[in-house]
Amino acid sequence: MATGKSRYICQSCGYMTPKWLGKCPDCGQWNSLMEEQLESPGSKKRAGEKAAAPIPITQVKSESQSRFPTGIGEFDRILGGGVVPGSLVLVGGDPGIGKSTLLLQVASKLSSHHKEILYVSGEESAAQTKQRAERLGTLSQKLLVFTEVDLEKILDYVEVTNPPVTIVDSIQTVYHPELNGAPGSVSQIRECTDRFMRLAKSRNVAFFLIGHVTKSGAIAGPRLLEHIVDTVLYFEGDRHHAFRILRAVKNRFGPTNEIGVFEMSPRGLAEVSNPSKIFLAQRGERLAGSVVVGSLEGTRPLLVELQALVSRSNYSMPQRVVTGVEYGRLVMLLAVLEKKYGMRLGTQDVFVNAVGGIKVDEPAADLGIVAAIASSYRDKPANPDTVVIGEVGLGGEVRAVSQPEKRIKEAQKLGFKRCLISAGNLSSLAKKVSLEIVGVKTVQQALESLLEAT
Ligand code: TYD
Ligand code: MG
Repeated sequence: MATGKSRYICQSCGYMTPKWLGKCPDCGQWNSLMEEQLESPGSKKRAGEKAAAPIPITQVKSESQSRFPTGIGEFDRILGGGVVPGSLVLVGGDPGIGKSTLLLQVASKLSSHHKEILYVSGEESAAQTKQRAERLGTLSQKLLVFTEVDLEKILDYVEVTNPPVTIVDSIQTVYHPELNGAPGSVSQIRECTDRFMRLAKSRNVAFFLIGHVTKSGAIAGPRLLEHIVDTVLYFEGDRHHAFRILRAVKNRFGPTNEIGVFEMSPRGLAEVSNPSKIFLAQRGERLAGSVVVGSLEGTRPLLVELQALVSRSNYSMPQRVVTGVEYGRLVMLLAVLEKKYGMRLGTQDVFVNAVGGIKVDEPAADLGIVAAIASSYRDKPANPDTVVIGEVGLGGEVRAVSQPEKRIKEAQKLGFKRCLISAGNLSSLAKKVSLEIVGVKTVQQALESLLEAT
């Protein structure tokens, strides 16, 4: 199909070039450029697509009243209070993480108190989808399963029946018959998403598109999609743990950085309304290297156990391995400990874990990371009833964090007795709390107060 109308498109990031290249200059992937036809075919207007005309802003219908909740609290919160009619939501995540399960549950919940909901399955047969629904205990007369991958047929059906919500599982399996390029290629995904978007807006119906994520972490094919759609949700988690986190990374109709926590069970996903409790459930008593930090995900406080292990290295280049913590941050904090507090970490391997498969990438976890490392290095357990909150600067000073009260209240709710926090936060703490607040100015003070004498 080498015509003048084709381009080479990076299947990872959507970068376009007229000439083939071995390595994408934008995202650095090797061998990701594929030849694709550029022209989008059949962009003719479909019947029923209204021509838009300008209207005074005062007469624009507000959307907030017309949202409809799904009844799954964690999911509604992420969306900003429910599904917005006419919105296009992309739900991304690793294969097998539970996207189909989540959206099938959402679909059947919706169908139980709304009109018929359409579930388009391009990945599994109708029988497989039914089997899954049976397992979830969510069979419903008003949940329609449509095993179809042809974009035109899906759009035709939606146009005729107008389901308020359509779920497309997955966008990588849908294809436009007139467009060259295999299903899942950048041009197919982009064209299909664009068409769903137009129908969503013209008919005021909502679409949820499921998208698989590539190894490098982008929704397969295009980051481009993120710009087209209204809302991007990522479903993440460690496959070896039951917890799943749904995160809004973009939302035109609600908050971003908000998370919802679910637990995968044999009967589907259950909402977790008190995640801190679960993340701390398996905490051992008085272990050197274990510290609980008060972090914040969006507006939601979350207590997470950080574990560090410092042990003598057998390599000339000692290892630094992180899970759920930022590598760059760790290296910086190690340098502070080495330079300011004389810990000889250059000959030690350092491992840091956020327990439970969660990610803590907030600077407010710095003091916790430092404390966990120091605790393991000195082999002194940290006080188990203390929660640690604070950002660490390059000079070893402990800096104030945002929204300290929320974090402290969460610690109090879970029965902690003490909270180490930057002295800079003390003045802004308005109300009295029942747990002891210790303000610290430096890492030194924090460690003295936290690590128990043996
Ligand atoms: P799935 O929703 O198929 O993932 P995705 O659509 O993101 O690829 O989820 C697959 C995993 O979830 C699979 O390993 C089985 C597990 N699972 C449960 O543990 N309980 C359940 O009730 C269901 C339906 C799936
Ligand atoms: Mg699936």
